Amino acid sequence: MKLEAVRAEAWDLADVDAVVVGLTERSGPEAALPRSLAPDDERAGGYLKQAVSRGEIRGKRGEVHVIPLPGLDRRLVVVGLGPERSLDSEELRRAAGTVVRQARSRRLRSLAFRLALFAPGRRDPVLASSALAEGSRLALYEFTRFKPSESPATVERVVFSLGPEHGRLLARVRGGLETVGKLADAVLWARDIGNLPANVASPAFLAEQAQALGKEFGLKVTVYDEQKLAEMGCGGILAVGSGSATHPPRMVVVEYPGQGGSRSRTVAVVGKGITFDSGGISIKPAMHMSDMKFDKSGAVAVLGILRVAAALKVRPKVVGVLCCAENVPSGSSYRPGDVVKTFGGKTIEVLNTDAEGRVALSDGLSWVNATHHPDAIIDLATLTGACVTALGFDSAGLFATDDALARALLASGEATGERLWRMPLRPVHHEMVRSDVADVKNSLEAPPAGAITAAAFLHTFVGETPWAHLDIAGTAYVGSGAARFAPSYASSGFVGFGIRLLADYLRAL
Ligand code: BES
Ligand code: MN
Ligand code: ZN
Repeated sequence: MKLEAVRAEAWDLADVDAVVVGLTERSGPEAALPRSLAPDDERAGGYLKQAVSRGEIRGKRGEVHVIPLPGLDRRLVVVGLGPERSLDSEELRRAAGTVVRQARSRRLRSLAFRLALFAPGRRDPVLASSALAEGSRLALYEFTRFKPSESPATVERVVFSLGPEHGRLLARVRGGLETVGKLADAVLWARDIGNLPANVASPAFLAEQAQALGKEFGLKVTVYDEQKLAEMGCGGILAVGSGSATHPPRMVVVEYPGQGGSRSRTVAVVGKGITFDSGGISIKPAMHMSDMKFDKSGAVAVLGILRVAAALKVRPKVVGVLCCAENVPSGSSYRPGDVVKTFGGKTIEVLNTDAEGRVALSDGLSWVNATHHPDAIIDLATLTGACVTALGFDSAGLFATDDALARALLASGEATGERLWRMPLRPVHHEMVRSDVADVKNSLEAPPAGAITAAAFLHTFVGETPWAHLDIAGTAYVGSGAARFAPSYASSGFVGFGIRLLADYLRAL
């Protein structure tokens, strides 16, 4: 999809299939049409004013009206924006997602958004156009790899018309669209990887994708195979991957050098890359087990983050670490009761092979901490069902040892709509994961605070370095149960959660 911005008024553009306007929610009898919609109402022969005062068009969130115009080969699209006081970038992303999906199903191929109607009052038109563009690009994604014949018609062009009110902002709006284009490219590229099933997306496949990314963007990529991992003492990743006869584990490191030379800050981003989580010997029930092809979501998000870091040339140095393994039962699997030694020497008592993410991450966290001395470590992992129980599908769990880091991530979450909710992490939680026979145990016999104790376990491997852990188990993919509640721009399957979030965080540094 092409994203454009023009000074002209939308109605003066010769070649668009529809003009799109936003309407904030209004209620009560004889609701008034805002004056800014007068030119549109004129084209619609007064229909808008009538429909609004009758309560037929109310501007409710999610509402879309496609209105034919007398004598014009063009449609007017009115999208509800919800209450004006809660109008923010996220509402605009969702509104745009709803509009482009409607437009696609009606075979409207080019749309002109009248920007003034989406940035009422004192709202920033540059932010508004970026949010609308982002929602538009992301909403049209479909995973067609195994069903290419079904790829449907699509919206090919979205134009933002600034009009006289905002014409002076043209260069800034265009700059915003360029950034959004690169962000969306990274998210959509990652979605194509994240949606692949485990028979295709093996640890070695993820390593190949990292290498291809490195080639395209000039990033250093290092792949550690089983033999290398054994030499390094990465017993955690090796244990988790030991059951797979066909898909051996890998640790993949992707490095973006930063823009500040040797003075650059270093941010390490570590992702859980379990290409399939059957639970291993502590096997999961069959129901929804297929969703566990998405247990690599953290690692795929890390690939996307490195791609945007390079595409947007962010200031800090970024080191991405993907901890990749397939967790399946076999005669060679690791077992409950096993004790494994991780990079740096800390030991883990494995009480449940289904708590494998933390075991695989232990090596990546301690390795990157020891070898790169990062200023901050952020990990992303579909770590616990307990986090989904606590927060559902709307927010990822945030655990942090550093308040400034937590605040920055929370702010990026609000800005990008990839929302976080901070959870506690206290000494008692560290006590809960202490083992009698090793430094830590990977699971408790009793269930309380499952997401928090998993975080406490990870904390063991980052030392004193400021660290944040994002439990994305509820937000990484849209399963059948969550589809009804997902934002319009998150297609079903892998979402790419964390890419736009971390891009915002890295750009702000
Ligand atoms: N990958 C799962 C967590 C998960 C659950 C992700 C649901 C997405 C949706 C993880 O490896 C796991 O199995 N965790 C266990 C931990 C338990 C054995 C301590 C869990 O959450 O039940
Ligand atoms: Mn598991
Ligand atoms: Zn898992």
